[in-house]
Formats: sequence, C-alpha cells, structure tokens
Amino acid sequence: MVTTSPISFASSLFNAIGLYTTISILTRLFLLFKPYISSSKLSRYAHLSLSGEPPWAMVTGASDGIGYALVEELASQGFNVVLHGRNLEKHSKKVVELQFSFPERSFKVIVADANNVACANCLKTDRNKGLSEEAPLDFEEIKKALDGLHLTVLINSVGGNIVAPIFVSLKDKTEAKLTENVSLNALFPLHLTRTLLPALVRNGSSLLINVSTMADQGLPLIASYSASKQFLLILTSSLRLEMMLEGRADDVEILGIRTGRVTGVAGYKEPPSFFEPDTKTFAKATLAHAGHGRGVVIGYWTHMLQYLVGSLMPPWVADRVMISIMRQNEEWELKTRKEA
Ligand SMILES: NC(=O)c1ccc[n+]([C@@H]2O[C@H](COP(=O)([O-])OP(=O)(O)OC[C@H]3O[C@@H](n4cnc5c(N)ncnc54)[C@H](OP(=O)(O)O)[C@@H]3O)[C@@H](O)[C@H]2O)c1
Repeated sequence: MVTTSPISFASSLFNAIGLYTTISILTRLFLLFKPYISSSKLSRYAHLSLSGEPPWAMVTGASDGIGYALVEELASQGFNVVLHGRNLEKHSKKVVELQFSFPERSFKVIVADANNVACANCLKTDRNKGLSEEAPLDFEEIKKALDGLHLTVLINSVGGNIVAPIFVSLKDKTEAKLTENVSLNALFPLHLTRTLLPALVRNGSSLLINVSTMADQGLPLIASYSASKQFLLILTSSLRLEMMLEGRADDVEILGIRTGRVTGVAGYKEPPSFFEPDTKTFAKATLAHAGHGRGVVIGYWTHMLQYLVGSLMPPWVADRVMISIMRQNEEWELKTRKEA
C-alpha cells in the first residue's frame, strides 16, 4: 500500500494552488490585453447607403492633435470626413493637405465653438465677464449642414482643459471658465450626440466614439476637466445600454475610449515614448477597437499597463502618487510660464 506523507501532500497542494493562481493571472492578463492585438473591424461601418451614397464620418475637434489624426486614419480607411472645429482658416488649410493626401475622398468643415452651448451662455451676467460673446450654438444648424450625407461614424474628440494656467485649484478658477470647460467636454458632445443619433440609427451599421481620458478617475487641479470627462464616460455607458434596450445595439455601436498622455497634440510636442504614443499611433489604436462591442476601453496598450500598475497600489499610495504628479505638473507650468 502506497502512503503519502503529510509533508508531500501539503507540497502537492501548494503546487496545485500555485499552478492555478499562475494560470488564472495569465488568463486575466491575456483577456486584459487581448483587445490590443485583435484587428480592426472599422470596415463594417464604411458601407454605401441603399441609394449608393459613400460613407461619411464626423470628427469633432479635428484641426489638431488626436482629432486630426483620426481624420487622416478614417480617410485612409474609406471614409469621407466632416471636420468640426472653431477656426475656419486653420481647418481650410488642413482640408487642402487632406485633399492632397487623399484625392479620392471628400471633406467638409463645420465651424461651431464647443465652449458655447446654450447653458453656458445663459449664465452671462456681469459677474461672468469673460464668457464668449457669441450667440449660443444651434445644433439644428449643424444637423442641417450634414443633410444628405450618409453619416455612419461620429467621433466626439473635442475636449481639453481650460486655457492656461491649466493646473489651478477649483477655488481659483472663474465661474465663466469653468462653465465653458464643462460645455466643451460634456455639454457639446451630449447635445451633438442627441442631435445626430437619429441619423446614425437610420444609416446603421454605425459607430459613435467618445474620447475621454484616464483623468476621469478624478484628479486635483483639473477638477472640472476630470469631472466633465467622467460625465462623457457615463453618457457612453448609458447610451450603450439604451441602444440595447431599444434593440438597436447592432445598428449603432457605442464606444468610449479612455486616454492616457498622447504627444504631438496642440499643447504637448515631446517625442513619442513607450508610455506616450504619437497621435497617429493612438488614432490607429482607437479605431482598431471598433466593431468589437467593447463599450468603454482604455485606448492604447501601454496606457492599460499604467492603469494596471496604478490599480495594484494600495489606495493611499495611489493618492499620494497622483498628488505628487499633479504638483509636478503645476510646477512645470509655472516654470514654463515664467520662462515665456
Ligand atoms: N493629448 C492627450 O494627452 C490627451 C490625454 C487624455 C485625453 N485626451 C483627450 O483627447 C481629445 C483630443 O485632445 P488633443 O490633446 O488631441 O487636443 P488638441 O491637440 O488640443 O486638439 C483639440 C482640438 O479641438 C479643437 N477645439 C478646442 N476647443 C474647441 C472649441 N471650443 N470649439 C471647437 N473646437 C475646439 C482644437 O481647435 P483649435 O485649433 O481651434 O484650438 C483642436 O482641433 C480631448 O477630448 C482630450 O480631452 C487627450
């Protein structure tokens, strides 16, 4: 009769637990990073209309940074593109460049200041000097400008922080600037989506992408930016479920992209690095998530790595790390402003 000593039984048990733990960690890691190795299914949205009209995409905040890189990527993947922004001259130059690179595509520009959603404007009082003097935005006008286009993709990329100084505590920011920032990051994409969703549904299969940030977890010194991007993220999740509730999940895919630092944008032009991809790399990675029904996802794989490291820290360590990073940002901005 073969007998097992208690010591060798315990050691087999520990080995089995170790093996199980290793396999489950590896499986989790594989599932976490799988979205970054699967290929793009964007082409499912590049279809002709029933009457043979070519597909159009619209990108907001399209004259620079990530927005412009998305426009180029969409054009290279078969879409005509509507570029949204606030500066007609800058966009007109970009369209000339685009037309040269993609002669077979069409481009159109829509000018609308995203800081200027009606709610921000209605706060215009003496104490709010500094708010835009323009009339509030009319989303019906934007809709009319798109009439007749077979819109199958909308990307809400416009967004960002308040104009410099960026890293300032909430109590030191003006009501006007805070309100404009929430208009830019939250209200503009909210109302644009409300206005254009019927066209996306009608033209399905369609795609809506909202570009958010990993700062949506809530960071000091950029509170209104963090909070309004979290709004965008929850809007994304709510809409996704709304599409499912209405039986339209196959007609319109709703995708939220959380973003770490990307270089080559208007306010940041460092060379790309492991954790800071350039806009072209990031735009490709963003569009590669299309067609997989992922809901909300971190757009780029090294940003996911950063997130993973952060989530392994005890909360009190993570808080201190974030505070220290934001303090450094504040000091860097002060120094840069003094030098300028
Ligand atoms: N870059 C990053 O590291 C990073 C990180 C996390 C999240 N994101 C998110 O990614 C998105 C794109 O950011 P980005 O860094 O590429 O920005 P960017 O380089 O500053 O470009 C922003 C674009 O939006 C336009 N824009 C700004 N304010 C506008 C307004 N009020 N009305 C209409 N258009 C306006 C700009 O036009 P003008 O030329 O007229 O200013 C520009 O075309 C944003 O939603 C941002 O929050 C970026």
